[in-house]
Amino acid sequence: MLPKRIDREKKKQPKDTHWLGRMLAKLPPWPIFFPIYEASQLNLVEELYWSPRIPAGFDGFRIVFLSDIHYGPLFSEERMRDLVQRVNKLHADIVVLGGDYALNADSAIDFFQLKPGFQAKTAVLGIMGNHDRRGPEESLEKLKAAMREDGVTPLVNDGVVLERKGSRMAFVGCDDFYCGNPDLQKTAALSRSADYTVFLSHMPDILPETFSMPGGLFYQLALCGHTHGGQVAVLGHAIKSSSIYGSKYLSGWYHEHGVDFLVTNGVGTSGLPVRLGAKAQMHLITMKREM
Ligand SMILES: [Fe+2]
Repeated sequence: MLPKRIDREKKKQPKDTHWLGRMLAKLPPWPIFFPIYEASQLNLVEELYWSPRIPAGFDGFRIVFLSDIHYGPLFSEERMRDLVQRVNKLHADIVVLGGDYALNADSAIDFFQLKPGFQAKTAVLGIMGNHDRRGPEESLEKLKAAMREDGVTPLVNDGVVLERKGSRMAFVGCDDFYCGNPDLQKTAALSRSADYTVFLSHMPDILPETFSMPGGLFYQLALCGHTHGGQVAVLGHAIKSSSIYGSKYLSGWYHEHGVDFLVTNGVGTSGLPVRLGAKAQMHLITMKREM
C-alpha cells in the first residue's frame, strides 16, 4: 500500500498540464547525467603540428601530452590504469605529463607510488601543477623521487635536450606559476644549446610573462594545461575560470608573439565530476617539418 504522502502529491497534479510538459516529464533527466557521463570519457586528439622551425631530425617526432589527471575520489586507480594502457599503446617518442596528478603533494606522491608506468621511446617527462605544490616545501623532493622511481623525469626549472639525426630539441619545464617557485631565467638558459625548444608549464598564465623577457622568447612551442577547458563552458567561455585571463587561454591552439602554444582540456576533473562543453582530452602531436 502506498504511503499517504504520495497519494496527496498525486492529487495536487493539475489535470490540464500541456502535452509538451507531460512529454518532457517522461524524459530521463539527461541534463543532470550527461555532464557526469562526459566527465567519465577521454578523447584522444591526434594532431599534425606543421612548422618550418622544427629541426630536420625531429620531422615525424610524436609527443603524447596529457595533464590534470587529478587522481583521487573523482579519478580512480582503475581509470588511471586504463589511461596508462591507452597512452602506452601509442608508442610515442616522448610522453609529457602536464601536472596536477592528484589533489595535493601527498596524494601526488601516492599516485606515483602506485607505479602508473607511462612509457615512451625516449623519455617520460613531468612538470608540477598547482595541486602538486600544495604541501610543505620538502614534499617536492619526495614527489620528484617518487616520479623518478616510476621512470618519470621531473622538470622543475629544469630541462632535457634530445638529440636525433644531428638535431637538438630541448624540453624545459618550470615550477608552477602560482604555487611553486618558477625560475624563468634558469629555465630559459637550459634551451640555449638546442635548435628548438618546447616549454612545459602547467598554467598558461605564465606565458605572457615570457613574451617580454629580456633576450627574447626562449621557446617555439609551449604545452599547458590547468584550465580544464573551463570544465563547464558555454560557447568557449568558462562558467568559472581558473586563469587570471578569464577564458582567453581556455582551450586549444594559440599563436602569439611568434610562438605556438596548446592549452589542453586535461584528463580529469576537480571540484565536481562533471564536464560540459569541455571534453576531456589527451593529445598525440606529430611534429612535421614544413619547408
Ligand atoms: Fe591546475
